[in-house]
Amino acid sequence: MPEDFSERIQSLREKIRYHNYRYYALDNPEISDSEYDRLMRELESLETQHPKFLTPDSPTQRVGTKPVKAFGEVQHAIPMLSLNNAFSEAELTAFDKRVRERVDNIDEIEYAAEPKLDGLAVSITYADGVLNRGATRGDGLVGEEITQNIRTIRSVPLRLLGKGYPRLLEVRGEVCMSKQGFATMNKRARERGEKIFVNPRNAAAGSLRQLDPRLTAQRPLSFFSYAVGRVEGAKLADTQSHILQRLSEWGLPILPHTDLVHGVRGCLEYYARIAAARDAFEYDIDGVVYKVNRLKLQHVLGFISRAPRWAIAHKFPAQEERTTIRNVTFQVGRTGALTPVAQLTPVFVGGVTVSNATLHNMDEIERKDVRIGDSVIVRRAGDVIPEVVGVIKKHRPQGSKPIKLPRHCPVCGSQIIRPEGEAVARCTGGLFCSAQRKQAIKHFASRRALDIEGLGDKLIDQLVERGLIDHVDDIYKLKDEQIAGLERMGKKSAHNLIKAIEKSKQTNFARFIYALGIREVGEATAQALAAYFGTLKAIMKADEENLQRVPDVGPVVASHVHAFFKQKHNRKIIEKLLDLGIRWPRLKSTAISESPLRGNRYVLTGTLNAMSRDEAKERLQALGAKVSASVSGKTTAVIAGTNPGSKIAKAESMGIKILEENDLMQLLKNA
Ligand code: IVH
Repeated sequence: MPEDFSERIQSLREKIRYHNYRYYALDNPEISDSEYDRLMRELESLETQHPKFLTPDSPTQRVGTKPVKAFGEVQHAIPMLSLNNAFSEAELTAFDKRVRERVDNIDEIEYAAEPKLDGLAVSITYADGVLNRGATRGDGLVGEEITQNIRTIRSVPLRLLGKGYPRLLEVRGEVCMSKQGFATMNKRARERGEKIFVNPRNAAAGSLRQLDPRLTAQRPLSFFSYAVGRVEGAKLADTQSHILQRLSEWGLPILPHTDLVHGVRGCLEYYARIAAARDAFEYDIDGVVYKVNRLKLQHVLGFISRAPRWAIAHKFPAQEERTTIRNVTFQVGRTGALTPVAQLTPVFVGGVTVSNATLHNMDEIERKDVRIGDSVIVRRAGDVIPEVVGVIKKHRPQGSKPIKLPRHCPVCGSQIIRPEGEAVARCTGGLFCSAQRKQAIKHFASRRALDIEGLGDKLIDQLVERGLIDHVDDIYKLKDEQIAGLERMGKKSAHNLIKAIEKSKQTNFARFIYALGIREVGEATAQALAAYFGTLKAIMKADEENLQRVPDVGPVVASHVHAFFKQKHNRKIIEKLLDLGIRWPRLKSTAISESPLRGNRYVLTGTLNAMSRDEAKERLQALGAKVSASVSGKTTAVIAGTNPGSKIAKAESMGIKILEENDLMQLLKNA
């Protein structure tokens, strides 16, 4: 098949140059990292196969693009190079083989294994231990002078610690933003209507490129060293791992989670370990890096074009990919909240094929200006629901369609309302809406609620659709033969389900409250309500003011709880559930709301005989009393054991009651 390689190479180069510019100069990429990697790999492989087309101006021959001119330029005396990538075990094995062949007679290479942080490479120079220059990588040869911005990063020392550092030390590493910092920053920006960033790396890049260092200083940036550049006046170490150790001794932040491993097997073990822990890391990482640990061997191996022969980046599957939006539908949740969901051209991202992604709410759609037909970047990280993070506006097709909030619920036809200033739109159908009913039933049966084993989402869908259950109480009226007739249900499984339903009748009070699915009442709030009121009756008759006495219950939660129990319909269902036999053990201690000790404040002093002071404190608190360390005007009484301290004198002088251990025991018993 005759193919014009030269044309393809030219076109790839143009594309890559353009995307380098978008990515490096504008911080505004149009394609995902993995797509960029693919273009680059295709070009590299064509150039390797047809070396006669290789020219010095090829993007494979240099990293990045020219810096923006607003910052001064910095020449990197030692080029800041890039890394070659491995995407598979085979590519890693090939790398290791090449290394071993070049350094001959070594069976197993020792590698310094490091996480590959997804941030920006910078160079920071110290002269006589004092920070005197910070620079971006730029195109690897010439970067931007960003000293003032680097200085604002808290973890970068302005002066090195300890002794023995070289006269001149150029440290290289990555500037990153934590996932948490990124989320907080975006949240604030959204509230203020400011620019939102797509991911922590883009946010770090945008932050470093602020012309006003005061703005950079407000951004949650971090720096981690992974290498050195120019070093004059002292020898650092013989290995990569010792270099990092020395840097750390001088007060420089170094990469976390590094390790020394041996051979391909050691590398793979490290890869698996880091991949498994990745979601829990504070920073985004997009792979791991293996570096031949001995600098002598690194020297023998040297460099090829833009990357060292002694290191390789072993990449994780991309978490962001590009695809198109075919349609947008709206899902109705338990509380009627409508979530717009994008139906995508299926795409492999984050290790699975994704065909739906959340668009969160109408505010997000408007902010990102998402339309049906758009090319978008989809992100799936860890267990997080896949989401549309941004639109590639340039690729917007002619007939793209704006997304409109429906006026009526797609499930029950009730009116949709979106209160002024609120992001969330809701179906007003309440329990008339089968979507809301289904969600309510799913929540009721879920593991942390009444925990009905075997009553899963699909089954609930069927039961509701066939009219076998409308509300949660109907679950307890189901008969074997009704269930046995459903898809994928036999006699045996129907019987087991009935048994599980029966078993769920014995529950506990907090679970029951949680299972009711009251807005804003999660497990912790349900527990707090149960402990405070002790009985369902007490909660049901509490007014909003009373409800707010419960720890951590504010006006919003109180109003939701109050409104829930005020509704006749809800009261009726609760009554039916109790009639059908739902039970929970009475709470052992009296409810805090009824305790005579509620609101009292005690101070404990001296040694008690029957229990420790900590135990006494816990028991008093469980009864709703407060225990403080010092006597004040608010103190109800001081409880004195043997050898009491000066607190007694103080209490006496203030006319505060003093109790003995016997009195304490009486209090605990009577309460
Ligand atoms: S070493 C000569 N180590 O990845 C080798 N780079 O794709 C220079 N990166 O430009 C790089 N974590 O921005 C190295 N542990 C690590 C890294 C790391 C992230 C970045 C760095 C580099 C890029 C190459």
